[in-house]
Amino acid sequence: MAKPSRKITVPGLQALKTRRQRIVALTCYDYTTARLLNEAAVDVLLVGDSLGMVKLGYSSTLPVTVEDMLYHTRIVAKGNSRCLLVTDMPYLSCQISPEQAVENCGLMLKAGAEAVKIEGGSEILPMLEALQRAKIPVMGHLGMMPQSVHQFGGYKVQGRDAEAARKLAADARALERAGAFAIVLECVPSSLAKTISRALSIPTIGIGAGAACDGQILVIDDLLGLTPAPLPRFVKRYADLRNVIQQAAVRYGREVRSGRFPDAGHTYP
Ligand code: KIV
Repeated sequence: MAKPSRKITVPGLQALKTRRQRIVALTCYDYTTARLLNEAAVDVLLVGDSLGMVKLGYSSTLPVTVEDMLYHTRIVAKGNSRCLLVTDMPYLSCQISPEQAVENCGLMLKAGAEAVKIEGGSEILPMLEALQRAKIPVMGHLGMMPQSVHQFGGYKVQGRDAEAARKLAADARALERAGAFAIVLECVPSSLAKTISRALSIPTIGIGAGAACDGQILVIDDLLGLTPAPLPRFVKRYADLRNVIQQAAVRYGREVRSGRFPDAGHTYP
């Protein structure tokens, strides 16, 4: 078991980049997992809007609401003590106006988040400035932004051609200038992620963006082998919990049906 270190804060994440220590981030949606990931010395817990797909059964993140994110933030916060807790802002919770962004992001902080993550480039700069004034730390998210899936025409690698790469790098610099404390780079070519990570003084956290990012994030259900195949190329499964859970349920079912469970050892005399 990794030795849990002290509490990770927003400035503490920056210090990890300065010390060239790679950042370990995972998504987290519930209390039990939050406790386990704290003990496993993970640095950042992201209450991702991916919960719409992996926990709520939607086919995209678009239906996820502010109320969904508040509920999951509250229960993750109860199990969190030392990780930096970041909550994703769902589709249309920030895009309408800076005032709307401050109101909804503020609710996440009241629910226990220590920072929020917002998808988008230069178009979200007015929101970022308002959030800075309201003292709400913001993590950016560039590259494949799942809330833009229809505009992109699917879940595709972004920034492949020179023009798109230039725009992505310019957006990253603009987010840093506007006060973002870190940026998630999702599904971008590794060479572009490397250029951006070197150009920025804030940390980059990659998912499908190669090894040169300052940290890595994965969806916890993908890492645990709970998500059915096919999985994107960047996912590495570190366990096969689908199998473990199914096998346990099948064995339980067999024992209940055959009368072997509960036996004397699991019965009050
Ligand atoms: O919602 C999410 O889980 C995310 C990560 C994949 C970065 O945004």
